[in-house]
Amino acid sequence: MKILMVCLGNICRSPLAHGILQHLAQKHSLDWEIDSAGTGDWHIGHAPDHRSITVASKYGVDISQQRAQHFHTDFFEYYDRIFVMDEQNYKDVIAQATTDVQREKVTLFIPGSFVPDPYFDAKLFDPVYKMVEKRCLELIEELR
Ligand code: 4NP
Repeated sequence: MKILMVCLGNICRSPLAHGILQHLAQKHSLDWEIDSAGTGDWHIGHAPDHRSITVASKYGVDISQQRAQHFHTDFFEYYDRIFVMDEQNYKDVIAQATTDVQREKVTLFIPGSFVPDPYFDAKLFDPVYKMVEKRCLELIEELR
């Protein structure tokens, strides 16, 4: 199973989803490949936001070695599932899909809802972590 997590900057939300699901997959001995990307290109090559690194580390997950990358259309072929954090991410990714098979791979990470962007609101990092962790635990059960 190859899974890609996508948000806008690839420095706050998707690195958490990437790191938490990778951590849980390893714990469950699942041979999954997990990565993340951003629909925006401002932070290519950057480590995650220090506030995401800090909250993840508080709960025992190390995301400090991740580096941001820009979403690329090649990812539609490579990944089995592409999870997006909010509706705008969904629109931005779907706009680049060219076939129904590609479109079907793209879904909201939280069905019918979204992960709020904590970039301009530091108090959201902890609740976002909890929200992402809860959904990652569900994904382990749904996709294993
Ligand atoms: P993310 O948060 O999409 O969760 O990584 C953001 C990070 C950076 C920016 C916006 C959102 N930015 O405008 O630079």
